[in-house]
Amino acid sequence: GAPVDVDISTLESGEMRIAEWRGKPIFIVRRTETMIENLRKDELTSRLADPESEVASQQPEYAQNTLRSRAEDLLVLEGVCTHLGCSPQFRPEVEPQPFDANWMGGFFCPCHGSRFDLAGRVYKGVPAPTNLVVPPHVVQGSVLTVGE
Ligand code: FES
Repeated sequence: GAPVDVDISTLESGEMRIAEWRGKPIFIVRRTETMIENLRKDELTSRLADPESEVASQQPEYAQNTLRSRAEDLLVLEGVCTHLGCSPQFRPEVEPQPFDANWMGGFFCPCHGSRFDLAGRVYKGVPAPTNLVVPPHVVQGSVLTVGE
């Protein structure tokens, strides 16, 4: 798979765009300030299986951090559930709480109910064993390049 360039100049705060790389959907989200703040809250992180991305296979080293990203606002994920490979849905809404009392937005897999936050971090107690994969990527100006 050759790298893919995506123009993200028109990606609005709070919005997701889907690209494709190696036949996989690539989710690109411009997170809002509120989303970023929520990702650091204890009431969220205490419910996650791997909040600090310790499973090294799931992201490049530069995304092995709380927000799982190079830049705070820009999230880049493979849109492939780590359970059996369905494509999770983007569910950024916080109210009304669609899935549980501490839902702060994220991704919901319709196949067997796995839940991930807005950094692709998996909740405890769902079928998916690990966080969503962050693909290799780099940003130069308004161009995101996925792949290497
Ligand atoms: Fe996503 Fe099973 S494939 S929960």
